[in-house]
Amino acid sequence: ASAQIGVTGLAVMGRNLARNFARHGYTVAIHNRTFAKTQSLVDDHGDEGTFVASESVEDFVASLERPRKIVIMVKAGGPTDAVIDELVPLLEEGDIVVDAGNAHFPDTIRRENALRARGLHFVGSGVSGGEEGALLGPSIMPGGTRESYESLGPILEAISAKVDGVPCCTYVGPDGAGHFVKMVHNGIEYADMQLIAEAYDLLRQGLGASAAEIGQIFADWNTGDLESFLIEITADVLQHVDAATGSAFVDVVLDQAEQKGTGRWTVQNALDLGVPITGIAEATFARALSGGVPQREAARGTLPADTTPWDISDRDAFIEDVRLALYASKVVAYSQGFDQIAAASEQNGWDIDRGAMARIWRGGCIIRARFLNRITEAYERDANLPLLLADEYFTSAVGNGVAAWRRVVAGAALHGVPTPAFSSSLAYYDGVRAERLPAALIQAQRDFFGAHTYRRTDREGTFHTLWSGDRSEQDA
Ligand code: 6PG
Repeated sequence: ASAQIGVTGLAVMGRNLARNFARHGYTVAIHNRTFAKTQSLVDDHGDEGTFVASESVEDFVASLERPRKIVIMVKAGGPTDAVIDELVPLLEEGDIVVDAGNAHFPDTIRRENALRARGLHFVGSGVSGGEEGALLGPSIMPGGTRESYESLGPILEAISAKVDGVPCCTYVGPDGAGHFVKMVHNGIEYADMQLIAEAYDLLRQGLGASAAEIGQIFADWNTGDLESFLIEITADVLQHVDAATGSAFVDVVLDQAEQKGTGRWTVQNALDLGVPITGIAEATFARALSGGVPQREAARGTLPADTTPWDISDRDAFIEDVRLALYASKVVAYSQGFDQIAAASEQNGWDIDRGAMARIWRGGCIIRARFLNRITEAYERDANLPLLLADEYFTSAVGNGVAAWRRVVAGAALHGVPTPAFSSSLAYYDGVRAERLPAALIQAQRDFFGAHTYRRTDREGTFHTLWSGDRSEQDA
């Protein structure tokens, strides 16, 4: 037994993680259901470090130093359970099984319970950054026991991305906490992408600019507060020309966005927790709308628009308005996502440090961005901050852009450009800051038709009005 870490499941993510471990000097046990993939990893990249290739699961497990550390990188769901079931009988007390796939966190909680009962550590770990991140340094979000992190953590930190020398990996919290945080990361990723897409659409329809011109605007934005991986690749994608047609690449791609499910999980969980993550929800529904072919066909050319042409006289001012609206909406999406993390952490007793999550998202992951530093700083100022938007930095950063945000959303509504994420984020902003909400009327209606009771602003207690009687008020 000589290997310090093992990887089973050598499709591109597993393969790249294994290479990343090897490049950092670890002896890596490798295994795959079909041996050809294992062999090809050794053939193609054997010179990058030390690999111990095994054909059988038994040999794979036997090649690992104890406590064994095994990273599973297979499809979420059934395939992950199958690999766990195969491994577990071969493991010994204290061994650590890491699921690095995009598992749904309730599955992780279930698996962690089952393995803990057998004296094993099960670490559900979020890994973000795609293929390139897995090879060159991902952002890693491991859950499980703190004890497992003592021996596993240093290895994961070694292969993770670094920002200012700080690893983009930290212990997240017990059982499903790591996969939960990765799920919210993906939800935020959906919101970020939708907001960028809306900004692009506004510039396209508002200015009549070409994809390449808008790509240049995004490239400019990437030098300021918005600097991030997603803005950077957007600039690149928009400037890409399709070889077959000579058109802008974005113009030949079918406009139906797909998803593998993590955004949907995020929204489902938020509904259960009662946390309004409207930005992420709108982003997820926007993908669904784009893919609703029969509905779009029924509506296209049928539903009247009744809009006026968008005549923008000051192009630069409009571009700056869109930039400010994008930044403000983005802050709302993150603020909501961090609220969701706080609520789940509370419900599950995970004790998640939100500032640390922003810190490990600064590099390696898909939502990596300059402004995550600001989030970490906000939670350093107040670890129990009830609302990220209410932190002093964000209050003024968003405050500076509110007027622009309103102009953009109003313009989009007047000119028929769909901006579900921009608009709902502004509505959230106005809702959460409102002195008084029409929720009072909803409570009154509920009491009217169902005697659901209400509370009063002027005294304690719960009340019911006899609506169909003499309309006197009773203590409920
Ligand atoms: C990451 C990504 C990744 C995710 C893809 C696709 O952090 O590296 O979040 O895990 O699977 O982005 O997601 P959808 O297919 O749902 O868009």
